[in-house]
Amino acid sequence: MDQQAIDKTSLPKHIAIIMDGNGRWAKERGQDRIYGHHEGVLSVREIVNVAGEIGIKYLTLYAFSTENWNRPKEEVAALMELLVATIRKEADELNKNNVRLHVIGDFAALPEVCQKEMNEAMGITANNTGLNLILALSYSAKWEILNAVKQISQNVQIGKLQPTDITDEIFHQYLSTHAFPDPELMIRTSGENRISNFLLYQLAYSELYFTATHWPDFRKKQFLQAILDYQQRERRFGMISEQIQTPQSENAKNQ
Ligand code: IPE
Ligand code: IPE
Ligand code: MG
Repeated sequence: MDQQAIDKTSLPKHIAIIMDGNGRWAKERGQDRIYGHHEGVLSVREIVNVAGEIGIKYLTLYAFSTENWNRPKEEVAALMELLVATIRKEADELNKNNVRLHVIGDFAALPEVCQKEMNEAMGITANNTGLNLILALSYSAKWEILNAVKQISQNVQIGKLQPTDITDEIFHQYLSTHAFPDPELMIRTSGENRISNFLLYQLAYSELYFTATHWPDFRKKQFLQAILDYQQRERRFGMISEQIQTPQSENAKNQ
């Protein structure tokens, strides 16, 4: 599988990935879970590079969920250390590749050193115009939606917003992904067929791709395969097949 198989004219603008299976991958090799997380970073690097190369504009990676705080404290500490070390090591490379880094999630819940490293990397890459790499850290979609609801309620209370003004577009502005389009494609590795509190609002019409491959084995070939699979699907958005195949202007005429 190489890049030629991909139709560059119908790429998803935004791909979101639940990077799952590091622990099981390590266990299968008689190693501890942390080893799997380290190997997972190699996949992150490769997928970020390929995504940038083929022209994906937004890549959201679910790196740490709110629920992941409940893991054994040694694993949480190791994950935070790995995050800091990886960003420290990769920030210049990301910058060189014109990647702009963003973080979504409960930023204040992250250890200070982690916040500092992230802020620096986001600062360095702030003017880049290539791939937008969005890391979901201490992220939970329910948390995000509830936050949006709280802010909207406050704005209604002070008269800044009328309840009748709350459209899908306005609601979007209150989400942490307000600057990004919704993902057309969501990939989850490692065989679990669930969303695990990831982008619940934004995934409303995403194509879902589940693969048994563990994250450390998910590389360029597997990523291109997922995009190819996406490109072979028909996205109907509630309409019927014939409408999708007819140009939009024709649809309007027929209504
Ligand atoms: C994904 O791999 C990484 C994080 C959630 C941080 P897991 O650590 O969930 O690996 P499994 O699912 O236990 O194999
Ligand atoms: C989801 O994976 C979170 C991340 C990949 C960061 P988990 O492994 O934490 O999810 P569950 O426990 O299988 O739902
Ligand atoms: Mg998991």
